[in-house]
This record gives sequence, C-alpha cells and structure tokens, in this order.
Amino acid sequence: MAGDPHYVREYRRLVRGLLKRSASEADAMEKAVGGAFEKVGAAQAKLVKELCPQGGFHLIDVGCGSGRLAHALRAETRVSYTGFDVVPDLVAYAEKICDRPDWRFDTISELALPVENAQADIIMFMSVFTHLKPDEIKTYLAEAFRVLKPGGRIVASYIDPDATAHKHFSLPALMQVITRAAGRNVMLTRTPRVTLSQWMEEAGFTVERAITDKSLGQHALIAAKSTAARA
Ligand SMILES: C[S@@+](CC[C@H](N)C(=O)[O-])C[C@H]1O[C@@H](n2cnc3c(N)ncnc32)[C@H](O)[C@@H]1O
Repeated sequence: MAGDPHYVREYRRLVRGLLKRSASEADAMEKAVGGAFEKVGAAQAKLVKELCPQGGFHLIDVGCGSGRLAHALRAETRVSYTGFDVVPDLVAYAEKICDRPDWRFDTISELALPVENAQADIIMFMSVFTHLKPDEIKTYLAEAFRVLKPGGRIVASYIDPDATAHKHFSLPALMQVITRAAGRNVMLTRTPRVTLSQWMEEAGFTVERAITDKSLGQHALIAAKSTAARA
C-alpha cells in the first residue's frame, strides 16, 4: 500500500512478481533471498552454532525471508527460533519447510520487534541492513539492543562500498531506479564497515569482529551486548 514504508511496499511487490514469473514456488522463494539457499543457509547456521556452542539458545532471525537459515537449523533441538519478515508469503513458506511447530514465524511491518526486553541470545540481520536507510538501521540496532540478553550477540551483514569483492553488487544508478520502479528490485544500500561499527557502538554494542570471507555472500559484523548491560 502507498502508505507503507519502502521496504514493505517494495519487498512485497518483488515477491508477488517472483511468484508470478518463476517456474516454481521454490524457485521464487530462493530468488527472493538472493539464491544459494542451501550453501548460504549452511554457512549462516554454522556461524550461529559457533557463537552458541553449548546448551539451548533463543535465536531471532530478523528478515528471515523464505527460511534459508531456519531450514538449515531445523534439526537442531537446542534452538528456540523466532523469524520475522515483512513479506507474509516468505514467512509462510519458511514456516512450511521447517515444520517446527515449536518455532515462531511472524510478519512485521515496522522496525519494531514484538518481543519483550532481554529475550534473545543471538539476533541475525542477514542481508537486511543492505535494504534500509541509515536511520532505519539505527532504529533496528536500538531494538536489537533492547531485545538481546546481556551477553548476547548481534550479527549484521553489509555491503561494503570499499571492498572490491562487493563491486558486483553495484547496479548503475539509472538501472536501480528503473528496476525499482518496475517492481523488480528493492533499495540496495552500502555501508562502510567503520560506519556500521560506529552505529553499533552508539547503540551500546561492543564490536567483536568482522567476517570478510565469501561464506555468507556479504561481509558481517558481530557485536556483543555487555553482560554488565541493563536487561
Ligand atoms: C535478501 S533477503 C535475505 C533473507 C534472509 N535473511 C537470508 O539471508 O536468507 C532480505 C529479507 O529482508 C526482508 N526485509 C526487508 N526489510 C525488512 C525489515 N525492515 N524488517 C524485516 N525484514 C525485512 C525481506 O523481506 C527479505 O526477506
């Protein structure tokens, strides 16, 4: 709808088009999250398990899409999972393929997480900040800080304009405008690593490290909420 924020309007339109044009639902669902469903899902799941090596943990996957990460984790009994996304078709598909009635999948349409304070051990924003404006990213970082338990971690991927490996994400500006207007693309934003680090620190996090290999498809920053932080 016209009054919806750009990420709701554009992503819902993109997915409607993909469902119409693609050979199958699975094909559309894979394209909607950027492809490499199994490979990137496995890499994301590996990272989550490395960050939470022992015991049960609550993972919140913001922008869960069609379940790339959730599907890779579906056999993990240690995980209590919550997936949020702005596109109902993606959320429904993720829920269907995971077949985990004990997990939560919900559609949201604002930059607010419908979760009480200090509930999550880990919050993933994979390929989400890459579609948001700076103020929107900052709003989500504040939300993530509120919802994380002290000692919890956030993982956020980004496209770094300074990284040569990310040049292929560039589309000439005019093509961006045309493909977005046609509903075949969404806003794509690049954020230098130092800038995202600074926003994370301003939100209260301590940035621990960056992942800059190719496994996740994009670079990512891992940041922690101090154990001394107020829940
Ligand atoms: C490129 S896909 C990545 C999906 C998933 N994180 C993954 O790595 O497979 C980006 C996802 O973010 C969702 N999204 C976009 N804006 C969002 C927002 N403001 N809040 C939550 N999800 C959002 C889109 O609907 C889409 O599913």
